[in-house]
Amino acid sequence: MTDRYAVIGNPVEHSRSPLIHAEFARQTGQPVSYGKLYSEIADFEATVQRFRDEGGRGVNVTVPFKHRAYALASRSSRLAEEARAANTLVFDADETVGHNTDGVGLVRDLTDNLGCAIRGRRVLVMGAGGAAYGVCGPLLEAAPAALVVANRTPEKAVELATRFAALFPDASEVAGAAYAELAGREFDIVINATSAGLSGDMPALPAGVFARAALAYDMVYGKATPFLAAAVRAGARTADGLGMLVEQAAESFYLWRGMRPDTAPVIELLRGTLKC
Ligand code: ATR
Repeated sequence: MTDRYAVIGNPVEHSRSPLIHAEFARQTGQPVSYGKLYSEIADFEATVQRFRDEGGRGVNVTVPFKHRAYALASRSSRLAEEARAANTLVFDADETVGHNTDGVGLVRDLTDNLGCAIRGRRVLVMGAGGAAYGVCGPLLEAAPAALVVANRTPEKAVELATRFAALFPDASEVAGAAYAELAGREFDIVINATSAGLSGDMPALPAGVFARAALAYDMVYGKATPFLAAAVRAGARTADGLGMLVEQAAESFYLWRGMRPDTAPVIELLRGTLKC
């Protein structure tokens, strides 16, 4: 008997999650099948319900449904509460439990795969949308010296920072800012959580924000974004979001199956498919 899972989104055709989870299932010998589930915008809740009624055991949720997945859940993990968004739903006998594995995925990629410690470092998150909300909790748990969120619409950055400062009263510095206000500051880890790169654009980051030996991380994967190009010019080390994608999937797999797959070969495999 195979347990069914799926990624639900709109669009969903491009999703690499089925490939990742097929590798995890093969590696662990778990009887899991994992497909793609397209949903019309209006029908998200009904699509989830139908999949569940047909015997589905859980779903990953991608753009633009993560907030609605959180709202739909009968119970949520602390990380999903913090982000007010869920990217993973676990169907139990009489509950739908919402989780958010994005931030854990990012932190694991930074610390385990890229060897980039967060504790005591100055972290800049660019963007204050859903992607930024998803990662700030786990970043703050890793105890950076500062977490500054910058956004084109600065009010949203301040709102995000205010929320997370209240959730983490012991954090050293949690602040929201406009990009121009970053002039004169340096950061050790600069994370692009905006969607600007998808349209070949980049936020107006002042020169000099990359500290010596800084890491520039773009949550978008498989794309030479203007942000990463600017980081290379500034002498920073760069990484895209492929590792985060695989690590957040591994955390979902763990929530569903209680087993941790080995992510390194899957990251390598995906990197290979992107080069084709
Ligand atoms: P996501 O769920 O991917 O975070 P979102 O909630 O729509 O998507 O948020 C997109 C983020 O990218 C926002 O922070 C947005 O800035 P605004 O809040 O000012 O709109 C940011 N963004 C998108 N395009 C951008 C661009 N060209 N320059 C700078 N920031 C951009």
